[in-house]
Amino acid sequence: MTPVRVLAVASEVYPIVKTGGLADVAGALPIALKAHGVEMRTLMPGYPDVMRLVSNAEEIRHWPDYFGGPGRLLAGSHEGLDLFVLDVPHLYARPGNPYVTSEGVDWPDNGVRFAALSRVAADIGHGLVSTFVPDVVHAHDWQAGLAPAYLHYDNRPRPATVMTIHNMAYQGKFAPELIGSIGLPWGSFNVHGLEYFGGISFLKAGLQFADRITTVSPTYAREIQSDEGGMGFGGLLRERAHVLSGILNGIDISVWNPEEDPHIAYRYGAEDLTFRAANKAALQQQFNLNSSDEAPLLGVISRLSWQKGLDLLLEVIPTILGEGMQLALLGSGDRDLQDRYQAAARANPGRIGVVIGYDEILAHLLQAGSDALLVPSRFEPCGLTQLCALRYGAVPIVSRVGGLEDTIVDIGEADASDRDPTGFKFAPVTADAFAGSLRKANIAFHDKLTWRRLQRNGLATDVSWRGRAGDYAALYRDLMASRA
Ligand code: ADP
Ligand code: GLC
Repeated sequence: MTPVRVLAVASEVYPIVKTGGLADVAGALPIALKAHGVEMRTLMPGYPDVMRLVSNAEEIRHWPDYFGGPGRLLAGSHEGLDLFVLDVPHLYARPGNPYVTSEGVDWPDNGVRFAALSRVAADIGHGLVSTFVPDVVHAHDWQAGLAPAYLHYDNRPRPATVMTIHNMAYQGKFAPELIGSIGLPWGSFNVHGLEYFGGISFLKAGLQFADRITTVSPTYAREIQSDEGGMGFGGLLRERAHVLSGILNGIDISVWNPEEDPHIAYRYGAEDLTFRAANKAALQQQFNLNSSDEAPLLGVISRLSWQKGLDLLLEVIPTILGEGMQLALLGSGDRDLQDRYQAAARANPGRIGVVIGYDEILAHLLQAGSDALLVPSRFEPCGLTQLCALRYGAVPIVSRVGGLEDTIVDIGEADASDRDPTGFKFAPVTADAFAGSLRKANIAFHDKLTWRRLQRNGLATDVSWRGRAGDYAALYRDLMASRA
């Protein structure tokens, strides 16, 4: 196996900084790739949490003026991850969420902040760090989208490039004037470059210039080639379809392991699912729900945004109540949805429990104690919570889109595919179809054998990174061979 060196570029990496699934992927993939002969180092911005957590950070570069202030490149590690950290205090030394102010609005200089990240990625690509000259630069999402563009416009021998789309909805759009201050040529402002509806888009830059484009499920790879799913990039992706593929995400099965999970009330394995009852009881208590083993407990762990379809869940609350089910929701995001969920909880004490916030530990108890996990997304590039649910014996009820379509087998589909059923899928993504699947799930829940079978099939599903990391390794090797 030829060893491959890959520089990954990501704006968040679990367990250091996380706002969503991108961090989970960026944190787990480098470790899973080791078994496939891929040495991956990850470049990320030096946010305060990064500066605090990354040990043995060693300065390997210093610039008196990096995009308007002093900057350093550090090399260090954290929990098995080899990292490059771009420490530029005037860009990254800000508390809280990496992208938005405490008022929830984008930092006005996000364009410069993430151009700076991509600029150094390209420089590492050119050999800035003599001990780690990558064969491939792998950019994740718009925050890293300029890396392939810099490498292209630098016009020098360069490593191969891969752009992974985790979410088409975030496009990194800025005013064209930015081009002048981030060291790209004005010639890049055209329809075959960064230009996008009169402005520029960092995501477009990556999609345009990367040698290969991947996204996080085969179905999403198809969906984004349509005008609707492409969210403005359908045409570009159809043109580049020959270099576009979908590789499903996995989850870190050591972080998500009900047999050894320190965050749940009672640990259990596939053989002793009855112990989930203790977790259900603990969950009901934490969410102020009536204690009842008989009421099916539906769980949600999610960003509260239009993407996730959680306004539809509000619409089906009458069905949930009518069917004698309970709901426990953990989430944060849109103010309006937060308020409406809190109001729903107040109106239905003991039946609907809501925790607004981001709580990694509670997320584990939710997986261990919920009977079913809901993901009614309008679009979902892959989705990770349904994978965790399979591993914890919570039966997923999901919409039939993107990675949800690829990772869950509907109860009615056992014969059509070789895989055993693991959950419930509904389409179209409407409140009516959602309510229908909840009613079906309720019937199955009260048929203990059927429910156990779904749970066991879920537990037997491989949701790890093992095979999927192999797909990335094959992609890198294939790409290198095609450029040799
Ligand atoms: P997305 O990246 O679109 O938000 P994913 O399903 O891919 O969706 O990943 C979401 C990740 O964030 C999962 O690891 C999930 O457990 C976690 N998560 C989302 N919301 C919360 C929350 N409120 N508290 C704790 N973890 C959360
Ligand atoms: C995005 C997507 C989600 C995916 C995650 C990791 O945030 O919304 O579907 O699982 O990235 O790839």
